Amino acid sequence: MEFPQLISFNRVSDERGELVFMEENSPIPFRIQRVYYIFNTLEGKPRGFHCHRHSEQVVICLRGQCRVVVDDGWQRKDVVLASPDQGVLIQGMLWREIHDLTADCLLLVLASETYDPTDYIYDYDDFISHARSQQG
Ligand code: TYD
Repeated sequence: MEFPQLISFNRVSDERGELVFMEENSPIPFRIQRVYYIFNTLEGKPRGFHCHRHSEQVVICLRGQCRVVVDDGWQRKDVVLASPDQGVLIQGMLWREIHDLTADCLLLVLASETYDPTDYIYDYDDFISHARSQQG
């Protein structure tokens, strides 16, 4: 599967400003069961460094900028998020890291599952074994 997939949101612009909307299945390809956001970030403090066994996520940078690294166990790719009209879809067994967050960064994350600490894989070597056994 090609990754990371970027999702573009429609911008509705008028003389008052701009608006973006998203909902289950359009264009978010899953039922949204959890929303969280990250703010007051410190420059030089990366986040993430885990993989989810089941949860799918879309990460959107509403303000500021960051670089999302996505790794499928074979390749690492990165994408810079710097606009509120696009999000990165993290679906399947993918390791993610978020780097280069600017101090004004506001990150919105939409997730397909409620919070479950057992859904996380935090150990990179464990992730590699899981990812390679699924894909190999
Ligand atoms: P963490 O997973 O470390 O954030 P990131 O993926 O951005 O590095 O989450 C930080 C803390 O917040 C951690 O103690 C778990 C808690 N948390 C919840 O309780 N619910 C949630 O939905 C999320 C995402 C985190």
